[in-house]
Amino acid sequence: MAKRSHTSLTKLSLVLFLLSVFPCSSKAYHDRLQLKETNLTLYFHDFSSGPNATSAVVTGIPGRVWSYSSFGTIIFADDPITAGPNKNSPQIARGQGIYATASLDGANSQILYSIVFTNQVYNGSTLEIQGRVLNFDSVAETAVVGGTGKFRFASGFATFETVSFDVTLFYSVTRCNITVLHY
Ligand SMILES: *[C@@H]1O[C@H](CO)[C@@H](O)[C@H](O)[C@H]1NC(C)=O
Ligand SMILES: *[C@@H]1O[C@H](CO)[C@@H](O)[C@H](O)[C@H]1NC(C)=O
Ligand SMILES: *[C@@H]1O[C@H](CO)[C@@H](O)[C@H](O)[C@H]1NC(C)=O
Ligand SMILES: *[C@@H]1O[C@H](CO)[C@@H](O)[C@H](O)[C@H]1NC(C)=O
Repeated sequence: MAKRSHTSLTKLSLVLFLLSVFPCSSKAYHDRLQLKETNLTLYFHDFSSGPNATSAVVTGIPGRVWSYSSFGTIIFADDPITAGPNKNSPQIARGQGIYATASLDGANSQILYSIVFTNQVYNGSTLEIQGRVLNFDSVAETAVVGGTGKFRFASGFATFETVSFDVTLFYSVTRCNITVLHY
């Protein structure tokens, strides 16, 4: 009795194993589609003050300075993204997300950004950026952890470097270079 149930259990687990391994392998993305590499250079335009601000500090630690370089500060942004460094160059996306200063010394922040494309070629697709950025280095690098639409299964990395900063307008332009693998 014990032996028989052991045998049928073995058969059952073999069937379950086969089902779990081969349920739809013929439809797998990696079988049908070729992994592609895409490089992008984008420019974020951020206004952190004034009536048309595209980013804002929403909270911080009570009694402390609230700024991007102060622990506990949370900033939201919805920045226009263009193909060239000039503000009037064609807008191709928006950078929507959260910038949260996550180190006690204020040297680095956690970013959670969606790059939401609006240009013809990637319209409606997104790239999801998440990770640590260094606030005081000339180049910050972080991860591209996913994507949607034309960027499904995306993974890669992104660099951010400030191209210009106008202190009177609180206006900065940041170049973002992205390398992603996707299907
Ligand atoms: C992307 O950029 C990297 C580094 O600059 C380069 O080695 C690679 O060939 C580029 N890939 C494509 C598809 O252009
Ligand atoms: C803010 O945007 C409005 C509408 O586009 C524009 O008329 C105004 O000049 C802008 N203000 C500043 C300070 O850029
Ligand atoms: C992008 O898609 C939206 C919604 O479908 C559409 O209104 C818009 O015209 C499209 N833009 C481009 C550049 O194709
Ligand atoms: C980003 O790409 C531009 C060319 O598109 C290049 O000049 C620049 O050095 C790159 N920045 C980084 C940090 O790789």
